[in-house]
Amino acid sequence: MAELGERYSKINISPVIEKRKEDIMASIIELKNVSKVYGDDILTKVLSDISLSIEEGSFSSVIGQSGSGKSTLLNLMGTLDKPTTGDIMINNTSIKNLSKDELAVLRNQTIGFVFQFHYLLPEFSVLENVLIPYEIMCTDRKKDVLEDPKQRAVSLLKLVGLEKVIDKNAARISGGQQQRAAIARALMNHPKIILADEPTGNLDSYSTEMIYDLFRELNNTLHTTFLIITHDQKVAEKTDRIIEIKDGRINLDITK
Ligand SMILES: Nc1ncnc2c1ncn2[C@@H]1O[C@H](COP(=O)(O)OP(=O)(O)O)[C@@H](O)[C@H]1O
Ligand SMILES: [Mg+2]
Repeated sequence: MAELGERYSKINISPVIEKRKEDIMASIIELKNVSKVYGDDILTKVLSDISLSIEEGSFSSVIGQSGSGKSTLLNLMGTLDKPTTGDIMINNTSIKNLSKDELAVLRNQTIGFVFQFHYLLPEFSVLENVLIPYEIMCTDRKKDVLEDPKQRAVSLLKLVGLEKVIDKNAARISGGQQQRAAIARALMNHPKIILADEPTGNLDSYSTEMIYDLFRELNNTLHTTFLIITHDQKVAEKTDRIIEIKDGRINLDITK
């Protein structure tokens, strides 16, 4: 990490400017003193008192050794899990008092997930897989979607370069293509945030590069916020902000 520190300069601005910056930059995810403890008998404290703000439209990575708490952090940000103490604001909504159903709606409307394993349904076509987040959207909100969902899925598949395999069975395309399909699926409901957990951990270096170029393009064109967990320093260096987790705390937070 010393290397990274040399290449990027840490933000070093006065508290007054910092405050003004906060007013201008809208945060899309905000963690307030978040801790996470697992277990009932034997307690494992995985995250300790983390406060962190992710700006809307930003392109950041989370790095850290295996077991440092990266996935736990991402799952909390994605409302897949709740903090033991502290609060999380997603798009200015506190998740503290939301019911399971309310959380599911917030998640479905705001967040797209990309995991290391794509979790496509193998017996469905690529197009059908991309349509799934729309299909599980609550009926009420479906009415608000003006565009034709199939048309949207097709245009997303074009965007990720899969126009030729739209009707193919998801099990019959390459690993890199499957991950692209998973990205198109994550984008289906116009999420403000994409949370990606080692999204290229399973891919060769060529596909990895393609996926990151695609993420950057989506960030530039759709202004989708990206938060990407990676163990690959080269990948992290392509992002604008690197957050390092060590022993459940933020060890480094570097902005280009
Ligand atoms: N559901 C769980 N129950 C108990 N311990 C867990 C659970 N999930 C993760 N852990 C523990 O929390 C620590 C951090 O895990 P994780 O967030 O997956 O780390 P990373 O993604 O950085 O590898 C590890 O020690 C792991 O064993
Ligand atoms: Mg992990």
